[in-house]
Amino acid sequence: MGRRLGFTALGASLALTLAACGGEGAGGSGGAGGGDSDDLTIGVSMPTQTSERWIADGDNVQEQLEAEGYEVDLQYANNDIPTQSQQIDQMITEGADILIIAAIDGTALAGQLENAAANDIPVISYDRLIRDSENVDFYVTFDNFEVGVAQASALLRGLGLQNEDGSPGTATGPFNIELFAGSLDDNNAFFFFDGAMSVLQPLIDDGTLVVKSGQTDIEQVAILRWEQETAQRRMEDLLTSTYNDGTRIDGVLSPYDGISRGIITALENAGYGPTIDAPNPMPIVTGQDAEIASVKLIQDGVQSSTIFKDTRLLAEQAVIAAQAFAEGNEPEANDTETYDNGVKVVPSYLLPVVTVFEDDIQAELIDTEYWTAEEVAAGQAD
Ligand code: BGC
Repeated sequence: MGRRLGFTALGASLALTLAACGGEGAGGSGGAGGGDSDDLTIGVSMPTQTSERWIADGDNVQEQLEAEGYEVDLQYANNDIPTQSQQIDQMITEGADILIIAAIDGTALAGQLENAAANDIPVISYDRLIRDSENVDFYVTFDNFEVGVAQASALLRGLGLQNEDGSPGTATGPFNIELFAGSLDDNNAFFFFDGAMSVLQPLIDDGTLVVKSGQTDIEQVAILRWEQETAQRRMEDLLTSTYNDGTRIDGVLSPYDGISRGIITALENAGYGPTIDAPNPMPIVTGQDAEIASVKLIQDGVQSSTIFKDTRLLAEQAVIAAQAFAEGNEPEANDTETYDNGVKVVPSYLLPVVTVFEDDIQAELIDTEYWTAEEVAAGQAD
């Protein structure tokens, strides 16, 4: 079982160890310098196993931490807030030295974080910012505003309004679109939506894009817990209300591949498709996470695009941050302005994102060994 991190004491004993051993840290193999990882336990709390990305995140974080010599206590909370709170409390009781948390509800963990702080346990917020607590020590994530910008740009590109290099495309519109956003208890949902609207709003204002339902506020278009079924139901409702006069819908801003699949199912049931090309073209649907089922849909010309966030790199940043804390240091941030959690601005490390259309699957997802060609063809992870 892990022992508590007394920062100063640990820093001092590490310095002595380094002096005595000529700089060779126990168990470390580079990275942040090979910390004193022996006997440290890191609690890793992930939201759910219903989405592939979180399974990959959990696996990657665990593997990379274990490779550095840490003990790992990895838990999934089944998208249930009390379960996640309980799991984190238990990690603290059982002696976790550092916590890495991807919150289900970013506003619901202040109590757990207070408990962590009282026990000198540094907390790393993973991908989703934990809000309303001063006890978030570091945040590793992607450039979430840029995700939204990339999603909206991909929608414009799919519609032919924009070329790959951002120059104006040959299409002029007007196009009917609908907007979807993520879960309102997830801070990221706002960043994605704001990023997307920074691109779309001017085109809505000048009439190039028409949101026929009139639903353009995040509260109107959000999907609780990012659930596919909820998204499908909302799309069905839009089709039977706003579009029951036979008007075509040309595009849908979707923030996440699971939501995209719900939207696509509703569109298919209403007679759109089978593909973007013919005969009754599937609307341009965006996405996020490069989930394998959606990558296949993109390969088959059904879904237009996704945003790829390499979870291996995110795991690596979480491990680097954990190592820094283990050594008594502060992790290195590359953003100290953007992520105000309501109590303080949390120092962050942001990773870049990649837009993937059909033509990009090979270079971005297969050549990088995120998915194999066989997995893409099957639409299923091995
Ligand atoms: C993540 C996205 C993911 C979504 C649903 C967000 O917090 O940043 O990558 O698509 O949650 O799981």
